[in-house]
Amino acid sequence: MNFDKFVSKVKGVRQQSDLLQNRITKEIPNREDLLVETVEQLNTSLEELHVAEEELLQQNEQLVEYQQEINNERQRYQELFDFAPDAYLITDTYGKILEANRAASQLLTIERKKLAGKLIIIFVPQATRREFRKKLRYLYERKQIKDWEIDLQNYQKNSFNCEISASSINDKNGRCVGMRWLLRDVSARKLAEAKIRFVELQNFKLKESSRLKSQILAVLSHELRTPLNAVIGFSDVLLRLNRNQFTPQSLNIIKTIIRNGKELLKLINNMLDFAGLEEGKLTLHLQKFNIKELIGKITDDLYFFANQKNICLETHINIQNVIVINDPIRLQQLLSNLVYNAIKFTETGSVSVELEELNEDKIIITIQDTGIGISDIDLKHIFQAFRQVNQTITRTSQGTGLGLAIVKDLLVLMGGTITVESLVGEGSTFRVELPRAVNS
Ligand SMILES: Nc1ncnc2c1ncn2[C@@H]1O[C@H](COP(=O)(O)OP(=O)(O)O)[C@@H](O)[C@H]1O
Ligand SMILES: [Mg+2]
Repeated sequence: MNFDKFVSKVKGVRQQSDLLQNRITKEIPNREDLLVETVEQLNTSLEELHVAEEELLQQNEQLVEYQQEINNERQRYQELFDFAPDAYLITDTYGKILEANRAASQLLTIERKKLAGKLIIIFVPQATRREFRKKLRYLYERKQIKDWEIDLQNYQKNSFNCEISASSINDKNGRCVGMRWLLRDVSARKLAEAKIRFVELQNFKLKESSRLKSQILAVLSHELRTPLNAVIGFSDVLLRLNRNQFTPQSLNIIKTIIRNGKELLKLINNMLDFAGLEEGKLTLHLQKFNIKELIGKITDDLYFFANQKNICLETHINIQNVIVINDPIRLQQLLSNLVYNAIKFTETGSVSVELEELNEDKIIITIQDTGIGISDIDLKHIFQAFRQVNQTITRTSQGTGLGLAIVKDLLVLMGGTITVESLVGEGSTFRVELPRAVNS
């Protein structure tokens, strides 16, 4: 039941009563009958009116309820708008601020009530105002802008990086009558992004220079090795073929050439290995072999060196299953480095090599000496390339400081680990843990 209907109903009743009135005044003879009929009809009409009134009342109640709901909803939206973490503005089509939430007032460092009525463009620095006007026009025509980055300035003229999303508010004919703005301060994010980019660039440069270094090392070592092999080889031939023609002094010179050449070759080979390991080019050639025999070979090779220094070189094999899978040449290189170091840095006493099994899958090789030892501070660096602890000692005992760096890199390839314990003046213990079967 709407109001018009109700009005027409009232009109109907009125007409009815006029009609009755007429009849009462004209049709005098049947006056009593007429009166009864009239009263009846009036009663019916009144009833109808009553029903209509009731319907209207109900509708009215419903309307009040709807109104309340709408008010609640509006309140909710207002609160959402006010307490939203991002800055929101409502402007007219010229960018004049009509409404602003708390975050907007914080971002632009100006009270909310002062914000109203100001043009949004006053928060745009002079330099970017043209761009801003263009965007405003664009927004008017195209209804939407998304994630547009621009420098803004707050009321104190401090600028910040802002990301803007905006959309037009349209009337029912689709005509733009206002604009909604979402402003987000992205200065911190920009800064973080710039930092990340800087670190990435730095990282890239570092990787590049490290790659270049390894490459130079590899090329250089390779170019040196070939002529050096010729020097050693031909000196050897000279010595063997013409031994009788040389004076003892010349013989000594040739022997010195060969000895130094071999030292140099060892160094170059180490550098090549290290470059290969660092570049990840070195691969293991895995095979099954007897580790007890391999350790025997290593100590045999170094026995002469230890003997020269009056150092006792001993081995202890405490292992049931002597078969392992690994690269025998690389494992020999690794262990030789450790045993050679132990002898090199020991003046009196002994060097021992012990082989045992931790369990079915793991073996342990311990190289222990009674040498000069390593201080706690130095222990942190000895596995770094070209690191030697005491240059005065090591210079006399030769080496480049590559040995342990190679050991460490090889162990990574083999899936093993190394630990070291040492006391200055007492000696050092290097403990290598290896899988019995290295994975390819
Ligand atoms: N058994 C050891 N006893 C004492 N110092 C050691 C021992 N092994 C290694 N070092 C120290 O660690 C340094 C690095 O060793 P390494 O990488 O093999 O280089 P290099 O043998 O060429 O000096 C050595 O110069 C030495 O100072
Ligand atoms: Mg060494």
